[in-house]
Amino acid sequence: MRDYHDFLGEILISEEQLQARIAELGEQISRDYAGEDLLLVCILRGGVLFLTDLMRHVTVPHAIDFMSVSSYGIGARQRSGQARINLDINTDIYERNVLLVEDIVDSGYTLEAVLALLRTRRPKTLRTCILLDKAERREVDVPVDYCGFTIPNAFVFGYGLDIDEYYRNLPFIGVVDLEKYESA
Ligand code: IMP
Repeated sequence: MRDYHDFLGEILISEEQLQARIAELGEQISRDYAGEDLLLVCILRGGVLFLTDLMRHVTVPHAIDFMSVSSYGIGARQRSGQARINLDINTDIYERNVLLVEDIVDSGYTLEAVLALLRTRRPKTLRTCILLDKAERREVDVPVDYCGFTIPNAFVFGYGLDIDEYYRNLPFIGVVDLEKYESA
């Protein structure tokens, strides 16, 4: 596996910027759900780092659960317009406050599919907390209730986001230099 320095275009969001913004989001969520019960639903795998950092700043009592939805790799960026649910939550969400925690929204198809499924279970509230919003790539209108950063149309990696399943552990968000990545 290659050293990421070989294809890192630039660091788009530093570790410090990420942590500062995530703390703000956690405080905002804590204010908005004060006195309420909350379930954070993390979309695997990309949302894992975001969830674990975010929940440290959420001071209202909350439970967590996980879903896995098919996404795509750097070599196959075409969308079918369909997202597949590979792993469902184990929690009954009827009449509960549900907040979806997701790493990135691109076309919006993944989030749309997850929201449609969860809505059928009649939660009390259903909102979304998205770390990165590639707003200009949106193909379907999906609600982004809490947003970490709006980012330009570039392929990014690190802090939960992968390139062919690697580099999720990096503490920052980097931009892939596609020419360098594909030429090596
Ligand atoms: P959407 O369904 O097009 O909104 O895509 C959402 C999913 O695509 C995310 O959950 C990510 O797994 C993946 N994705 C989109 N853009 C990127 C990127 O720049 N880097 C890594 N994964 C991405």
